[in-house]
Amino acid sequence: MSTENQPLRTTETVKHLLDKIDPDRVPAHVAIIMDGNGRWAKARGLDRSEGHVEGVNTVRRITEIASETGVKCLTLYAFSTENWNRPQAEVDALMHLIGIAIERETADLVKNNVRLRMIGDFDRMPADPRRRLQGCFDATSRCTGLVLNLALSYSGRWDLANAARLLAADAAAGKLDPAEIDEKALASRLSTASLPAQDPDLLIRTGGDMRVSNFLLWEIAYSEIDVTDKFWPDYSKEDFINAIIRFQSRERRFGMTSEQIAGES
Ligand code: IPE
Ligand code: IPE
Ligand code: MG
Repeated sequence: MSTENQPLRTTETVKHLLDKIDPDRVPAHVAIIMDGNGRWAKARGLDRSEGHVEGVNTVRRITEIASETGVKCLTLYAFSTENWNRPQAEVDALMHLIGIAIERETADLVKNNVRLRMIGDFDRMPADPRRRLQGCFDATSRCTGLVLNLALSYSGRWDLANAARLLAADAAAGKLDPAEIDEKALASRLSTASLPAQDPDLLIRTGGDMRVSNFLLWEIAYSEIDVTDKFWPDYSKEDFINAIIRFQSRERRFGMTSEQIAGES
């Protein structure tokens, strides 16, 4: 069979699958631990950095489909605080790639009404990707569609420690009574506070590992978790839509009983 029909068939499959999504129950916030770039490359005898390059194509693909499904916020774990401990050459390659990709994609993000945001330690990023990121934040600041939120130099514990410091500073300045510190007070000081939806409804991890690797520790308290063995460079639009369809078949009980949930709807 000719491979020329492949893209057409893929588009058809995507359209068909999109129809299976209940538009009233699309997760507002999807977060993804994009894992497996290195293993994808290794399996092909390539350098790990080739896996990261291919991973950027997946980011573009998944951003497109997330937009189409009506997801409001897509948070992608692109570089963790712990990833700074990787070999310097890999860190450098990743930082370079992030900067290049951001700049290259900016025009399309604007065209698709996607707003770029980030969570994480912006100041720890090297000057070049920092400048390119800032350019993209500015260029997309008026976009009203999907929020593409990159977690860069991010970890959940880093964010929680920051929030604790902000609470302590407000208390020390007499602006906050320590007795009044509650979940809302803490959540409002996390870097995710200003996203369209703070807590992910759906957390996806590619690469098969059943762990959260210091991602959104506070915010995933009640997220539905979807782990796939596929490596991030292989993750397709169909995979993303199927994850949403699986999400829609779950019963989210938030500590209550099935009967209570049924009574409420
Ligand atoms: C995820 O892929 C990308 C980053 C963490 C930056 P990995 O680089 O972790 O790939 P594996 O897990 O080693 O295959
Ligand atoms: C998680 O992947 C971080 C990102 C996807 C950016 P890692 O590859 O760093 O996670 P571990 O080391 O397997 O837990
Ligand atoms: Mg990994």
